[in-house]
Amino acid sequence: MRVRKAVFPVGGLGTRFLPATKALPKEMLPIVDKPLIQYAVEEAAAAGVEEFIFVTGRGKAAIEDHFDHSYELEDLLSARDKTEELAALRAAIPAAGQVAYTRQQEPLGLGHAVWCARNLVGNEPFAVLLADDLIQSKTPCLKQMSDAAAEIGGNMVAVMDVPREHTARYGILDVGSDDGHLAEVRGLVEKPDPVEAPSTLSVIGRYILMPEVFEYLGRKEKGAGGEIQLTDAMAQLIGAQPFHGLRFEGTRFDCGDKLGFLKATVAFGLDRDDLREGLGKYLSDIS
Ligand code: UTP
Repeated sequence: MRVRKAVFPVGGLGTRFLPATKALPKEMLPIVDKPLIQYAVEEAAAAGVEEFIFVTGRGKAAIEDHFDHSYELEDLLSARDKTEELAALRAAIPAAGQVAYTRQQEPLGLGHAVWCARNLVGNEPFAVLLADDLIQSKTPCLKQMSDAAAEIGGNMVAVMDVPREHTARYGILDVGSDDGHLAEVRGLVEKPDPVEAPSTLSVIGRYILMPEVFEYLGRKEKGAGGEIQLTDAMAQLIGAQPFHGLRFEGTRFDCGDKLGFLKATVAFGLDRDDLREGLGKYLSDIS
């Protein structure tokens, strides 16, 4: 099993980040000097993905522009001998024909956004990456997943343990057999109350899914929060196909949340050779 296509749902409104996200897509917010969506695309490419499918919405044109040439800027950088900057710009652009866009006309939920990509995905396994979940790891998270999925087959979600009081923020696993790395998924519940949550193992924004999920998404049943939930459609696959949660190696930052965004900025800043010393000194000065 090889995952060649990845879906990037970027149709959300990003209300937690207003007013910044009024005219700027949430996925274009930068961590240090790179927009969130570029981290996600690079992660997918590192896992062998060759086709990048964006499910956009109104006001998301900046994402399309970001993955296209800007000849004026490139000419200017070239004339000024800014070769490094120019190379970085060009490296971020997928090859012609590798990117596709479709539009979610109404933000009816993550499940609906993924369903909008059904014709572009077709009848093959595919990945879904939520750009606001940024993962710092030695091996890119989706690569960890695609390696595991190549062996075990079926559906896979990236999972991590969360404090019980936070279960209402996530899709939560009901776990069958578990070797500490891969957990068999016996059930999935979207945003359960801490008292009702079957575990504290939560799904984060990385998925490898079989195309049969589109059949269930197409029923457009509303779930938690009145939205069409990806979790509910995934839950229908359990039993019919292998389904596992992978405890990935790495740290996940919820960059759709202000505190998570700030933590990611610090962590990724400290990881940079050109910033580590200055940022480290500043942090120790103010603490
Ligand atoms: P979020 O739950 O973070 O929602 O969506 P949001 O609208 O982006 O942000 P807030 O909560 O209002 O601040 C998780 C992911 O699902 C996508 C978002 O773009 C994000 O990547 N999404 C969500 C869609 O593409 N369409 C939707 O209808 C809802």
